[in-house]
Amino acid sequence: MHFIDLLNKKKRGLALSTEEINCFVEGYCQGHIPDYQVSAFLMAIYFQGMTVQETADLTLAMANSGDRVDLSSIPGVKVDKHSTGGVGDKTSLIISPILAALGIKLAKMSGRGLGHTGGTVDKLESIPGLKTDLSLEEFFGQVKDIGLAIAGQTANLAPADKKLYALRDVTATVDNMSLIAASILSKKIAAGSDRVVFDVKCGSGAFMKTEEEAKELAILMRDIGAKSGLAVHSIVSDMNQPLGRMVGNRLEVYESIETLKGRGPEDLKELCFALAGEMLVLSGMYTEVQAEEKISEVIVNGAALEKFRDMVAAQGGDVAYIDEPERLLQAGEKYEFLAEKAGYVTKMDSEAIGTASLLLGAGRRTLDDVIDFDAGLIFEKKLGDQVEKGDLICTLYSNDRALFSEAIERLKGAIELGELAYRKKNIVLARIC
Ligand code: URA
Repeated sequence: MHFIDLLNKKKRGLALSTEEINCFVEGYCQGHIPDYQVSAFLMAIYFQGMTVQETADLTLAMANSGDRVDLSSIPGVKVDKHSTGGVGDKTSLIISPILAALGIKLAKMSGRGLGHTGGTVDKLESIPGLKTDLSLEEFFGQVKDIGLAIAGQTANLAPADKKLYALRDVTATVDNMSLIAASILSKKIAAGSDRVVFDVKCGSGAFMKTEEEAKELAILMRDIGAKSGLAVHSIVSDMNQPLGRMVGNRLEVYESIETLKGRGPEDLKELCFALAGEMLVLSGMYTEVQAEEKISEVIVNGAALEKFRDMVAAQGGDVAYIDEPERLLQAGEKYEFLAEKAGYVTKMDSEAIGTASLLLGAGRRTLDDVIDFDAGLIFEKKLGDQVEKGDLICTLYSNDRALFSEAIERLKGAIELGELAYRKKNIVLARIC
């Protein structure tokens, strides 16, 4: 088979066979097909699209391009959760112990922060002593012992996706539904999941800018999942402002502990309940109504917080920070961002707010950057809130005062105050299953 024939076929809008797609992925991973041909191929896919069957074939070929984690040795129901990326998104830290407290096995491989979005691994590592680079043996052992482990991605999972994603990034072919769906699903399949709940975010801080696009992606992932042996449910959620009140690694751990104690902000609580509830429904253990009751129960009786503490202890973290979470709030410098006029908060561009947090030191500009775990923002006002001139909108935190000015400039462009009342949106926009 010559790759130029596949290129021609896709250019003319014809569907490729399973064998052809396997040849493409194998040939590219082994270095037999050059980047310039694959670039043209990606652009042909971008304009001609792929059928659901082609996308499912691409997903499986990418999942099979490296190691595949086998979770079958862990007894019990396993359900995974994945977010398409957001700002202030600490839901994994809250949902995972809730589910573990309810008997679901959580063997979760998570990522680091990417650009303006944070990553669960960085958030967890902000707890002094906690390690996420678990060997597969430690990872499985911990899930068997306490029902829960969150580790960084150690295995060589879906290397085809790594290569293709890097090429998509520089050939303007990232924003294609089939390519996005195959990229996300291939990594989930390789990580051993067979049931996944996706939090498909839409809005200023998300990959999908509109609710319609987010729904389209959720439906596509459900349909490809069905063809690839992966049961997929999705919650479409709003990302037109940061989730919760806190952005930044230790700050988000603090807010997660508050939420596990039943004291979290309403939007964060609502989304966590929706996602955890969906995972319980997908596990087959509970109905929707039962799930909500069960989640409330493990928050009220402290079992979910206790599971979080168990996980921190098992991964070497200092549990004193869980018992006295104020110790997580220790940035050396702060700046109060005040309202310049009276009005209503009408815009909170989450991408720009995520970038402001990164500029304060909470994220990486380059792969080698060292994170300031204390850096970030705490919001006192959110979309739709009324403010008077001089009211505190948010406080910026960092250990390096020199980093404030650029972050403040970003915030000035990110937050708008208008005269007309703004109608608050629900955080959960749709459920697709
Ligand atoms: N996240 C991924 O993992 N892949 C994409 O293509 C887009 C978002």
